[in-house]
Amino acid sequence: MGTSTPRRLVALLSPERGRCAVVAALMVASVLGEVAVPYFTGRVTDWVASEDELAAAWPMALLGLSSAVTEFICDVTYAGTLSRALGRLQRCVFAAVLQRDVTSLQVTGTGAVMARVTGDVEATHAAVSEALSLLLWYLARGIFLLVTMAWLSPHLAFVTLLSLPILLLLPRGVGKVQQGLSRQVQEALAGATEVAVETFQAMATIRSFAHEAGATERYHQRLRRVYQLEGKDAAMYAATLWASGFSALALKMGLLCYGAQLVTAGTITTGDLVTFLIYQIQFTEAVEVLLHYYPNMTKAVGSSEKIFEFLDQEGQVAPAGTLAPDVLQGHLKLEDVWFSYPKHQEPILKGVSLELHPGEVLAVVAPPGAGKSTLVSVVLHL
Ligand SMILES: Nc1ncnc2c1ncn2[C@@H]1O[C@H](COP(=O)(O)OP(=O)(O)OP(=O)(O)O)[C@@H](O)[C@H]1O
Ligand SMILES: [Mg+2]
Repeated sequence: MGTSTPRRLVALLSPERGRCAVVAALMVASVLGEVAVPYFTGRVTDWVASEDELAAAWPMALLGLSSAVTEFICDVTYAGTLSRALGRLQRCVFAAVLQRDVTSLQVTGTGAVMARVTGDVEATHAAVSEALSLLLWYLARGIFLLVTMAWLSPHLAFVTLLSLPILLLLPRGVGKVQQGLSRQVQEALAGATEVAVETFQAMATIRSFAHEAGATERYHQRLRRVYQLEGKDAAMYAATLWASGFSALALKMGLLCYGAQLVTAGTITTGDLVTFLIYQIQFTEAVEVLLHYYPNMTKAVGSSEKIFEFLDQEGQVAPAGTLAPDVLQGHLKLEDVWFSYPKHQEPILKGVSLELHPGEVLAVVAPPGAGKSTLVSVVLHL
């Protein structure tokens, strides 16, 4: 994948700089609002004892509402900005197609050209608008959450960060093994079916050699292999569920135990701990989404790469027609020219007279079949 492709995609957005800044500002505002909600949840926890929970509940409700409104405006602006940028790309590709050599278009095929103009641009649009927005959103969220977590309790944030690789990689590793096993089960099943089909097709031969028991045993062997693999697959599936559930639970328990010690020591309040636990769940979710959607983003870059390749194929673009001789020479003069084709009596050109000096332009306008091409042929002595 060319390194310049992502840069060119970003360059597409450069005329939308103002709108992008608005989107970024709205996104930060919305994320801040979202991050503030758990903070006030913690404060409510702390203030329940002092019976002043309304003091924190009001800002929490207002922040939640304004964050939702900002997110909505941000989404609308983002979608509009992307549509404009990709619309521009689509116009570029269309213009590039029109500039091309007619023969090169015929060689490439209309289907392939249409795929560039509509298919690839749409694929890029779909992937970029979905994957990029999710990536940006969760990236901003993850960063803000991490910063707030570190501010609330550096110790607990450090523990969360340390456990992150286990939390994310353990279920992934187990999941990969399970996927491999599922594939093996499918292959073993296909093998068993193949044996059954082969056996039925060669039924006459098997009967004549009285090999029914042998053939049945062969099929059984294949089925036993399928059952074994299915058993392992089921165990691995359970392990996948356990791995994701257990590692998350283990982290929560660890944080609770360690957090309780910090509360007892007076380093943080109970409310801080509640806030932190909510942040931790949101942070892990953000990292999971980032890992999940990153491949989609690379797919989008791949689609756009094809578009840029198409735009770059300048060798095939017809010359712009700017070549002109420095000095124009010659003088064309027709006087009462008559012409008829050998096998036709009726003359096509009947007394044509014209005079053309160097640099002059003459338009010959006549209905189809009137003799325009014939006139040119006569001038060229063809
Ligand atoms: N080689 C040929 N032998 C006999 N008749 C011909 C030949 N070429 C053209 N014609 C006839 O001469 C007439 C004029 O043809 P020509 O191709 O010059 O017209 P044109 O004005 O160039 O038409 P178009 O607008 O369709 O290009 C037509 O009736 C056509 O059938
Ligand atoms: Mg003609």
